Amino acid sequence: VVLVVDFGAQYAQLIARRVREARVYSEIVPSTMPVAEMLAKNPRAIILSGGPSSVYAEGAPTLDRSLFEAGVPVFGMCYGFQLMATTLGGTVDDNGAREYGRTPLHVSKAASTLFEGTPTEQPVWMSHGDACSAAPEGFTVTASTDVVPVAAFENDEKKLYGVQYHPEVMHSTHGQQVLEHFLYRGAGIEPNWTTTNVVEEQIALVREQVGDKRAICGLSGGVDSAVAAALVQKAIGSQLTCVYVDHGLMRKGETEQVEKDFVAATGAKLKVVDAEKRFLDALAGVSDPEQKRKIIGREFIRVFEQAQLEILQEDGPEVAFLVQGTLYPDVVESGGGTGTANIKSHHNVGGLPDDIEFQLVEPLRQLFKDEVRMVGQELGLPEEIVQRQPFPGPGLGIRIVGEVTKERLDLLRDADAIAREELTAAGLDRDIWQCPVVLLADVRSVGVQGDGRTYGHPIVLRPVSSEDAMTADWSRLPYETLAKISTRITNEVADVNRVVLDVTSKPPGTIEWE
Ligand code: XMP
Repeated sequence: VVLVVDFGAQYAQLIARRVREARVYSEIVPSTMPVAEMLAKNPRAIILSGGPSSVYAEGAPTLDRSLFEAGVPVFGMCYGFQLMATTLGGTVDDNGAREYGRTPLHVSKAASTLFEGTPTEQPVWMSHGDACSAAPEGFTVTASTDVVPVAAFENDEKKLYGVQYHPEVMHSTHGQQVLEHFLYRGAGIEPNWTTTNVVEEQIALVREQVGDKRAICGLSGGVDSAVAAALVQKAIGSQLTCVYVDHGLMRKGETEQVEKDFVAATGAKLKVVDAEKRFLDALAGVSDPEQKRKIIGREFIRVFEQAQLEILQEDGPEVAFLVQGTLYPDVVESGGGTGTANIKSHHNVGGLPDDIEFQLVEPLRQLFKDEVRMVGQELGLPEEIVQRQPFPGPGLGIRIVGEVTKERLDLLRDADAIAREELTAAGLDRDIWQCPVVLLADVRSVGVQGDGRTYGHPIVLRPVSSEDAMTADWSRLPYETLAKISTRITNEVADVNRVVLDVTSKPPGTIEWE
């Protein structure tokens, strides 16, 4: 394993992903972890991430010197670079030499371990206030910028390397190459980590964990739960039962996709609960977004628990495990390490007996989203499931502004299907993050169709581009595609006489309308 020591901000996850792109397995550890504990993980190399602090700020994170003396190759980036410099006796000062954004880097020693084979002038992404003015003893300075004399250094004998910039961001054109040089040449690691290893390893682990007991997995129609279920299915076969709650708020074809394609691809035992009526009854008369969300969440848990209860009562070994599609970013963000937690499944909402406890099976805990898609592909899941764009749990229930009814859902399903079809036909699926299609059910406007006046509802298109859904921009879709979607929706969907485009970024607007 390669450890990425997290000094804050959002850099560590990106670095960990880049290391895996170099086919080397990486894990993130907090900078507060004692060095002895880091070394106990037997890392093949350690990378120190950037961070928001100045090394001289009060309370700034530090590192024990022993990290650099353990014989493990270390690569410091930005804050990690400065920390390496100060810890080993170099000089970092706040001399006003700030650099932000794209900066030309002058490589002075092309034969260096990190820079060999890269141009002597290369653009890099900088983001720092303090700057290193003298490298520690025994280090060779390998690059500089117009304002920073020491922008990279290395001590090949001790296997210690550092760069002032951020090689992990794509604006640093040769960043990935430099990172790979560190991993392969500096640390001597063979690039052989792939998602195939993960699948094999996880199948073995799940078999060992579950033994001859049974497990349950809730399917949402999303990528994560589908891949988790497919992997566990491969490990324990018929000991797994999947539960899919059809709340009637899914898009066109999605329930069938789970019922047919998922089962065909995996052979999993699937229990589909048709709860459309129950959800629509509970939502009747409700327009407030938060209230809708609460109702959908509450009903979902009740139906799911009822299904669990039925499975518990079937003959067979003890049902002791609950499969979840937890991903690595969730694990990192909740400060979690390894191991599995015991949860008590929502007994407060009724349904399950108080004393039932499930152990969690989380086979995707090590993986990033794009890796999960690769695993899904490897497990033979269909493209439509593996490449699916994000879709909210409350489904179309929060894409009808106003009360949710069956008629309105059917109308929105038709409009949404047209938008999806045309976006796919135009080859835009990978360019946009997602495209909510929203029905303004309480708004009517006047139109003319054929010879007659219409008084129908508007449909809103909300195509967005995003990296992580935390922020987003509206997608600049080609006019021809928008025109086609608009014409088809107004022609083919009854009661819709207007299509409008949402051109708001996030912030200030959220991606969904409710
Ligand atoms: P917002 O609207 O907050 O959405 O900008 C951010 C991302 O989250 C999705 N979303 C949800 N996903 N349950 C989910 O599983 C929810 O209740 C939910 N609400 C929003 C949304 O589609 C977008 O990708």
